[in-house]
Amino acid sequence: MKALVWRGTQDIRCETVPDPEIEDARDVVIKVTSCAICGSDLHLYDHFMPGMKSGDIMGHETMGEVVEVGSAAKSKLKVGDRIVVPFTIICGECDQCRRGNFSVCERSNRNKPLGDAAFGHTTAGLFGYTHLTGGYAGGQAEYLREPFSDATHIKVPQGIDDDKLLFLTDIFPTGWQAAVQCDIQPTDTVVNWGCGPVGQMAIRSAILLGAKRVIAIDRVPERLAMAEAGGAEVINYDEEPNIVARLNDMTDGKGPEKCIDSVGLEAHATGAVDAIYDRVQQATLMATDRIHVLRQMIMVCRPAGVLSIPGVYGGIADKFPIGALMNKGLTVRTGQTHVNRWTDDLLRRIEEGQIDPSFVITHTVGLEDGPEMYKTFRDKQDGCIKVVIKP
Ligand SMILES: NC(=O)c1ccc[n+]([C@@H]2O[C@H](COP(=O)([O-])OP(=O)(O)OC[C@H]3O[C@@H](n4cnc5c(N)ncnc54)[C@H](O)[C@@H]3O)[C@@H](O)[C@H]2O)c1
Ligand SMILES: [Zn+2]
Ligand SMILES: [Zn+2]
Repeated sequence: MKALVWRGTQDIRCETVPDPEIEDARDVVIKVTSCAICGSDLHLYDHFMPGMKSGDIMGHETMGEVVEVGSAAKSKLKVGDRIVVPFTIICGECDQCRRGNFSVCERSNRNKPLGDAAFGHTTAGLFGYTHLTGGYAGGQAEYLREPFSDATHIKVPQGIDDDKLLFLTDIFPTGWQAAVQCDIQPTDTVVNWGCGPVGQMAIRSAILLGAKRVIAIDRVPERLAMAEAGGAEVINYDEEPNIVARLNDMTDGKGPEKCIDSVGLEAHATGAVDAIYDRVQQATLMATDRIHVLRQMIMVCRPAGVLSIPGVYGGIADKFPIGALMNKGLTVRTGQTHVNRWTDDLLRRIEEGQIDPSFVITHTVGLEDGPEMYKTFRDKQDGCIKVVIKP
């Protein structure tokens, strides 16, 4: 089959690789009908996340049709079923899965010692996302093996477009969880940094969950325009040298109650001293992550407020304002998304027409165009906000 394969920093290729096969009784194999490129993939493309090996198949936002079923998955799935594959692989049986904490499933990371060493305790296995989280083949390919499929899969009805359902894999529940974690009250101002696909979903979720006001920050005009169309007031950080002062002005000096980081470890900044420092630290391997946005969130958030962090961080960071965080009594909520915790509810909202997550798609291409689209998406060229691939 054809698949998008990681060959090194900024080197993704469309190659012919062996077809996946059933390896365990709980597996299924699907024929991929749609998959997408995620901002998280960019951390691998740019090689800020450690743990990739040359030849790894990329991709963790995938859906398709079941073509082969392992013996232990037959009670739940049959050939021809249409499924969405969450990016988090879950066993459905461990202590964490039973509590709904699916992204920290204790059993699905088959490289548990690596996960333990990296993060203190293992987290869930993820598709196409480094050997720290299992080294599983990803779904930017013609076929995908879904391990633990009887627990992991989300069955979806026929008759609804792939484009409406595909983002149940990741970015829709991720934006939703980011907003839910804010415990939004009708009097709250929610500020979302980053208007990529995750930020777009977080903005619309915060509005659906009843925020009084949502403010969105980015510098890419078409992303800001999309945020505005979703109901946010917008700030272009290239035109606003002091984001913290501006947000304080907009909130009578008190700061927003809730702050969402939909940017993660590759935060940009124009001219800020701390951002230059982060670049130097990253270049000299003294720190792995650039936390410019996190520092702004901690400084501007109203005391006793909430910081919700869906943006991905991989390792360690420096100049973290722990004093402000502690003394202001801020609550930090973060994590890879517990996808299956939210998908029944979100599928119902899609079916009822409350939201159609396909609004975010700007590019639809074939697999062979994948390598070029990584660059287009990373560089935000050609108005690119979200790329869907139809293998
Ligand atoms: N927690 C999860 O489960 C989960 C799931 C999916 C994605 N993510 C993460 O969410 C983040 C966003 O993903 P995406 O697909 O939207 O990626 P993206 O790269 O398309 O979006 C990031 C956006 O942040 C903006 N940005 C950069 N620096 C900024 C700054 N200083 N202030 C404001 N905006 C800034 C960029 O211009 C860009 O539009 C990534 O870190 C990704 O890894 C997390
Ligand atoms: Zn993703
Ligand atoms: Zn589990």
